[in-house]
Amino acid sequence: MRALLEGRGLAWPAPIEHFAVVGSTNDVAKERARAGAAEWSVVLADRQTAGRGRHGHVWASPAGNLCLSILLRPVWTPERTMLLPLAAGVAASEALGEFGVEVRLKWPNDLLAGERKAGGILAEALSGAAGLEAVVLGIGVNVAVDPAVLPGDLRATTTSLRVETGRDVAVADVAAAVLARLAVWYDALASLGAPALLDAWRARAVPWWGHPVEVRYGDRVIRGIARGVDERGALLLEEEGGRVTAVLSGEVLELRLR
Ligand code: BTN
Repeated sequence: MRALLEGRGLAWPAPIEHFAVVGSTNDVAKERARAGAAEWSVVLADRQTAGRGRHGHVWASPAGNLCLSILLRPVWTPERTMLLPLAAGVAASEALGEFGVEVRLKWPNDLLAGERKAGGILAEALSGAAGLEAVVLGIGVNVAVDPAVLPGDLRATTTSLRVETGRDVAVADVAAAVLARLAVWYDALASLGAPALLDAWRARAVPWWGHPVEVRYGDRVIRGIARGVDERGALLLEEEGGRVTAVLSGEVLELRLR
């Protein structure tokens, strides 16, 4: 992995650990964070037995896919830190583009190829007495998975690089591409702030703006017209009557009018 990153001009500044099997790479990265590990520490696994998705979903992690977690220690404003999951989405989308797969971002950061999920991002924050101590960005990409081996409800909604390209792609190459693009966007967030990142995210987002959508967050469901994202990356939803609500976290679904 270091050699691949060096090939991209990057001398990686922190440990890169690779496991054959773990519960969740995010959990290992959080353990490392609590033990004081350096920013940009990376955890990779061939397989996860307890892979986690957003909103408590299980993340199927058979061998052949990318399971990657990165430990970051941003010292920015909370608003800027909130954009890290979107930065990871842009980075992953750009990285998968290198392998010939056009990936769109479904708010906040689902990686879609066509209408199917090629990957996802789980960002988890660690706080201590001094406030935010670390953010772990967990990135899962379906590289080689055959959707036919997945549980029924995932089969129709999942795709992979192999399915999209008809070719075998090395997981390590995908990891190196994602890490390299993430480093670029992290620096861009640090030096330029939110606007450049938000422009890049919008350019890669599924084109739902102006369309009716439903957002589920917690036990709430709200419907409205998707109007865009604000400077924190919150989804702006125009509800009936014209009131605009900024939704910070949730799952969004396009409502197709027949
Ligand atoms: C989602 O779309 O719900 C997010 C999926 C995130 C999966 C990745 S795989 C690496 C890291 N470890 C985990 O347990 N989850 C994330």
